[in-house]
Amino acid sequence: MTMQSKNSPAPILEVRGCTISLQGERVLNDLSFSVAEGEFLSVLGPSGCGKTTLLRFIAGLQPADSGQLLKYGQDITPAPPDRRGVGIVFQNYALFENMTALKNVAYALRFHKETKGHETELARELLCRVGLENELNKLPSQLSGGQQQRVAIARTLVLSPDIILFDEPMAALDAETRLLMQDEIKRLQREFSATILYVTHDQEEAFAMSDRIMVMGPEGLHQLDTPDALISRPADDYVRRFVGDNLRRRAANLSRCVAGGQL
Ligand SMILES: Nc1ncnc2c1ncn2[C@@H]1O[C@H](COP(=O)(O)OP(=O)(O)O)[C@@H](O)[C@H]1O
Ligand SMILES: [Mg+2]
Repeated sequence: MTMQSKNSPAPILEVRGCTISLQGERVLNDLSFSVAEGEFLSVLGPSGCGKTTLLRFIAGLQPADSGQLLKYGQDITPAPPDRRGVGIVFQNYALFENMTALKNVAYALRFHKETKGHETELARELLCRVGLENELNKLPSQLSGGQQQRVAIARTLVLSPDIILFDEPMAALDAETRLLMQDEIKRLQREFSATILYVTHDQEEAFAMSDRIMVMGPEGLHQLDTPDALISRPADDYVRRFVGDNLRRRAANLSRCVAGGQL
């Protein structure tokens, strides 16, 4: 049984009634939402509200107390992480320190029969596409934070996932690199027609990058909507405050630019 109408295709991903407790504490409570194909959906919420736990559930790294995960309408809740077509870029990149950029990416393909024998070639191609053609043989310690993140992204893309999860990927980067990587991730999304679920606690980042934003608070989901709709039709006071902060900050930035003669 599906809730979809005849005309609309099943969403690429659907989380249904997901409840997760960790060490007796309820972290996610009956959470439901879906992600459309090709969408850039951000999950925005304060530290501790369960964003990483949600990504770990979708990636198959965290079982739920109850609830389901559907991909194109099929239940993949019991599928192991490498059988879901879900890629994840972790907050700390989780690169192997003793492996070069090239080896890090090639290693991701080690269990993939279809690409056997072509691992290095594919890894090189992906690293070139994220702008690291001159860094192939460097170790993570010889790379900048932004470059390490590109390796982590290449390592995820090389597996051709149907959906890519990012867990606060900008957390370790300076402000300038952050803006550069925002552009880069958007460019890669277009180039690979990727579907992205992007976790952040940074409102500006979410508003700048997303088709839709899921606003979470300590008690769970408040609103999932387009950036415009969050501003014009906030669902509750929490979202209104949240969005208000964002607008105030933008206005402050703007007046700073005006005062500085940049506009
Ligand atoms: N392995 C764990 N064991 C027990 N509690 C955990 C564990 N991981 C996270 N938590 C708790 O679950 C809640 C949600 O964590 P998390 O999903 O990491 O939040 P976020 O990514 O939004 O900061 C937090 O209160 C955190 O302390
Ligand atoms: Mg987290």
